[in-house]
Amino acid sequence: MIKNEVEKVYALEWTGDVLKVLDQRVLPETIRYDEYKEAGGVAESIRTMRVRGAPAIGIAAAYGVALSVMQHYSSSSDDWQQKVAEDMQRLADSRPTAVNLFWALQLMQEVLDGNSENLIDKVRQVAEQIHAEDIKANQVMGALGAELLVDAKTVMTHCNAGALATGGYGTALGVIRSAYQRGLDTVYAGETRPWLQGARLTAWELAQDGIPVTLIADSAAAWLMQSGTLDWIIVGADRIAANGDVANKIGTYSLAVLAKQHGVKLMVVAPLSTIDFELTSGAGIILEQRNPNELLAECYSHEDSLVSAWNPVFDVTPASLITAIVTEKGVVMNPADKGLRSLM
Ligand code: MRU
Repeated sequence: MIKNEVEKVYALEWTGDVLKVLDQRVLPETIRYDEYKEAGGVAESIRTMRVRGAPAIGIAAAYGVALSVMQHYSSSSDDWQQKVAEDMQRLADSRPTAVNLFWALQLMQEVLDGNSENLIDKVRQVAEQIHAEDIKANQVMGALGAELLVDAKTVMTHCNAGALATGGYGTALGVIRSAYQRGLDTVYAGETRPWLQGARLTAWELAQDGIPVTLIADSAAAWLMQSGTLDWIIVGADRIAANGDVANKIGTYSLAVLAKQHGVKLMVVAPLSTIDFELTSGAGIILEQRNPNELLAECYSHEDSLVSAWNPVFDVTPASLITAIVTEKGVVMNPADKGLRSLM
């Protein structure tokens, strides 16, 4: 059994027949799991953000394909292939920005395209492997990123790039976990409006691990940097283009601009599955827009309202504002110089 562990709570739990998804919409007050035996339900759990965070979305999608094959596969006819293809399309349509989703679907497609002997065992194994390798990658990145923080005392993170967002351990929070064991002193987390991944998820995850964390309103970041105590900002990513431009949670770009103004360094931590080598720059990244009602007070959310809202949930930070990109295959310093081709 593979589990994605935050203390005794698991963001994704795979039993071999069922995918249990921790409903992150109701954390930290309520710990509730939804159980899925069909890919359509997994797609819905991604779309509705019960499971979120680029690597966790990819892992959930891989298990979704495994469930689809388990449900539809038949050795005596080819009809199952059409049903699995439809399920894969549902999974692909669930959210647009995190490339890990499409990366995982591609790996599962390659299994389907291969020799179909023991197909059910194979799809299960590959999905479990995607999950297990993500956890390993996070641990490697945690150590590599912590080496860059040897002299750092104070860091800030944005959104939730922790165990809840990945196979386990976390990308940005993996680095913070490793650095904390080596003497990192103070961790600030931005609330991350409108969905409050920082206030609800990062704060909870770090507190579960006994790591003290200070929450700030997103709009307090400039003043925090002006105070001169922040050494690094550490974030995850949803998609990184070959030139080092990074799509991540809305607000990352403004933190990057502020960091440059105040001489604060910016670290992006992401596995290779988050790098889209087919994109030459961040200009080609589709940035998800979510329902304006996530921002609007209820009294403004009716059709004839004079108050509307613009709710992009990701932005792109140009490589020129990034100090280091940390992957499981190594660290690229100043990615604007040569992009990420050295990792290929
Ligand atoms: O909308 P979300 O919560 O799925 O967005 C998550 C992020 O932007 C994370 O920073 C990113 O996926 C990296 S998670 C390791």
